[in-house]
Amino acid sequence: MDTHVRLEPWGEDDFWLLERKNTPEMTAHLGGPETAEKLASRQRRYAAMSAGAPEAGRMFKVVLVETGETAGSVGYWPRVWDGEDVYETGWGVLPEFQGRGVAVAAARAVVAHVGALDAARAVHAFPSVDHAASNAVCRAAGFRLLGTTDFEYPPGHWHPTHNWRSTPPPP
Ligand SMILES: CC(C)(COP(=O)(O)OP(=O)(O)OC[C@H]1O[C@@H](n2cnc3c(N)ncnc32)[C@H](O)[C@@H]1OP(=O)(O)O)[C@@H](O)C(=O)NCCC(=O)NCCS
Repeated sequence: MDTHVRLEPWGEDDFWLLERKNTPEMTAHLGGPETAEKLASRQRRYAAMSAGAPEAGRMFKVVLVETGETAGSVGYWPRVWDGEDVYETGWGVLPEFQGRGVAVAAARAVVAHVGALDAARAVHAFPSVDHAASNAVCRAAGFRLLGTTDFEYPPGHWHPTHNWRSTPPPP
């Protein structure tokens, strides 16, 4: 299905979206719901990213073009992986918008965004090996599976993930 989305920078008024994502279902592969304190600091961090240099990363709301509804979030942030400067990405789609291609469209959009910023820099995603939906998103969005790795998320928790890489096409 062709779902059209646009990415809008995370703002000061978007705490509601973090709250909607902070459920046992939405965080089942992300270490579980966060405390109110951690969520508030996440909100400050995301809003600050919108005001900072794009090279330092961005979080976005994923907005449906047809209706203007906010369906989820996607972002990118710098990481050194195997000695290489890359960006890591991650996404979340609210339950009522799942299953209609929103995450794939958002993943493609964030890769295009990074490609416009720095065409030489690859984007990696690290979904848990048993997270069928997120691995399917990577595959459908054109990422290439490099293998399996032990990944730390949230801090202090190591678990096996797949390592997916998307290299933006040259401009
Ligand atoms: C993972 C998530 C973003 C998928 O969002 P979505 O908008 O429903 O995904 P899409 O509709 O774009 O579907 C993408 C692919 O996933 C598949 N998929 C969706 N839900 C699935 C499920 N529960 N099990 C298996 N595959 C699933 C779809 O069939 C599709 O694959 P295809 O293109 O090969 O047909 C959403 O489930 C979510 O937000 N989960 C909670 C947050 C999270 O875990 N984020 C990822 C952290 S790594």
